[in-house]
Amino acid sequence: MSTTSQTSRLGDKTVHRIGFGAMQLAGPGVFGPPKDPDAARAVLRRAVELGVDHIDTAQPYGPDVANALIAEVLHPYPEGLVIATKVGGTRDEQGGWVRASRPEQLRALVEDDLGSLRLDRIALVNLRLGVGGDEPDPVPLAEQLGVLTDLRDEGKLDLIGLSTVSADVVRDALEITPIAEVQNAFSIVNRGDQPVVDLCREHGIAYVPYFPLGSAYMGGPAALAADPAIASVAARHGVSPPQVALAWLLAHYDRMLPIPGTSSVAHLEENLAVGAIELDGDDLATLDNANQIGGPGF
Ligand SMILES: NC(=O)c1ccc[n+]([C@@H]2O[C@H](COP(=O)([O-])OP(=O)(O)OC[C@H]3O[C@@H](n4cnc5c(N)ncnc54)[C@H](OP(=O)(O)O)[C@@H]3O)[C@@H](O)[C@H]2O)c1
Repeated sequence: MSTTSQTSRLGDKTVHRIGFGAMQLAGPGVFGPPKDPDAARAVLRRAVELGVDHIDTAQPYGPDVANALIAEVLHPYPEGLVIATKVGGTRDEQGGWVRASRPEQLRALVEDDLGSLRLDRIALVNLRLGVGGDEPDPVPLAEQLGVLTDLRDEGKLDLIGLSTVSADVVRDALEITPIAEVQNAFSIVNRGDQPVVDLCREHGIAYVPYFPLGSAYMGGPAALAADPAIASVAARHGVSPPQVALAWLLAHYDRMLPIPGTSSVAHLEENLAVGAIELDGDDLATLDNANQIGGPGF
């Protein structure tokens, strides 16, 4: 029996440590409908059957594809299901990611999420910074967060998070409003965001790592399988390299809430079984030698 806690806090809510990221439910390039819509529906159904109570989604996934599938398959939602969305970007007609950070755009994106997810109130909305490139955002952080705090006051959302942010931005945001989660890229093969993880620990903020398997775009799952340190720990426990990568995240911080994305029921089941894996000090020392493929992050 594992001693790793199976649940943790996300703001004032309690959720299972492993959640589900809905980005892989859309079509190739996160654009358009899934190649196999019935398979996407089966993944969502199985996730909730297996106890997933934290789903991460966003209007740009498709756009509107992931949200529509979630509502179609899971509404009316089981009690306690936390659906987290993100605002700050959208898609153009070719599938390009474009910034949408002006106050009226942020408000419209939250309203879109409420409509497509058939919710009266969203459990958590992340402010996703930096969509569409490195150009400085003309809208100040305080103004963007001000829209979300207004929407919270209006009862349209419960909790506010931040995504793709540096430690300095987290500090600035904390001067404005409580922050329930930081969602940045982080994994056993991309540890560049450790300073933000440390800051979250200091403030008791949940850390939701995206690309927890290193991301298919960066060859993450293949790199996990090819890594001798990860492979040796996987062999020792009789589990797969992606399972070791997720178990490492769980062991790294007790408020780490990975949201691995998958379009496959078999991978979903594998990912949700990692709570039973107990990594010891020798395993963690071995895993310190895992090769870094890097990726986005601060
Ligand atoms: N805030 C942001 O800007 C941001 C950015 C990116 C992602 N996200 C969120 O983070 C979530 C996770 O990111 P992600 O889905 O891109 O990356 P990821 O979880 O690191 O990797 C997903 C890839 O791993 C494969 N995979 C999943 N489980 C596997 C397993 N057990 N064995 C082998 N391969 C496996 C998937 O392929 P299969 O479909 O074949 O399983 C998919 O190609 C997203 O779904 C999204 O909700 C947020």
